[in-house]
Amino acid sequence: MKFLVFLGSVRNSTPPSPARLGERVTKAIIACLQSRYGEHDIELIDALDYQLEPVFKPHFAYAKSKAPVELNNLAQKIDSADAYIMVSPEYNHSMSPALANLLNHFGSSLFAYKPSAIVTYSAGQWGGLRAAIGMRSFLSELGCLPVSAMIHVPKAQDVFIENGDVQNGEDQSSWFDYFARTIKQLIWWADATKKQRNEVDPHTLITNFTSAPSQRNTP
Ligand SMILES: Cc1cc2nc3c(=O)[nH]c(=O)nc-3n(C[C@H](O)[C@H](O)[C@H](O)COP(=O)(O)O)c2cc1C
Repeated sequence: MKFLVFLGSVRNSTPPSPARLGERVTKAIIACLQSRYGEHDIELIDALDYQLEPVFKPHFAYAKSKAPVELNNLAQKIDSADAYIMVSPEYNHSMSPALANLLNHFGSSLFAYKPSAIVTYSAGQWGGLRAAIGMRSFLSELGCLPVSAMIHVPKAQDVFIENGDVQNGEDQSSWFDYFARTIKQLIWWADATKKQRNEVDPHTLITNFTSAPSQRNTP
């Protein structure tokens, strides 16, 4: 199966230090996936690689095939993926605005009927838990329902070094065991929804939003 790991941090300045703490958390998640679940196709989607326009124009607002190449490419990757891992810092008790902005560029039909996993971190003691609560609603609206287990890494700078390895004194296998609960749920749901998508194409049963969310058919 194909998994996209979204890294939602684009902050490249200090203070607060260290910047882009999310990079090491994401590397640790990917290292865990590769070492324990390496049979799957895992791709990193780094929000920093997407230079989005300041005036918001989502992928679905462009005339067919007129969208910028990088948006078209990412749309294709999202569409063909079986599951998503969303890695976000907590900013003012909310998810990363860069991650929300990137995801908002794509219609929910590309994400829908597949699962997602929430990974949050912070420099402080709560590990981004409050951001994670909001991410549940956000990802549910996109249609990639988050699995119940979540990963939170408090004081991530004390847990991981820049390359994603653990700091001296931290036990990598304990952290990977913790990650595994969420990852195993994600793999189970990804497998189940993939089989069911092959059995019944949900897009033939439930029409996608093509022009407005008013297409919910509310009387
Ligand atoms: C604008 C801003 C708001 C923040 N708000 C929170 C917060 O609400 N809760 C928290 O635990 N940490 C907060 N922090 C600290 C972050 O956890 C810390 O800076 C972390 O490194 C952010 O991840 P990043 O380096 O990948 O951007 C905030 C940091 C910034 C820059």
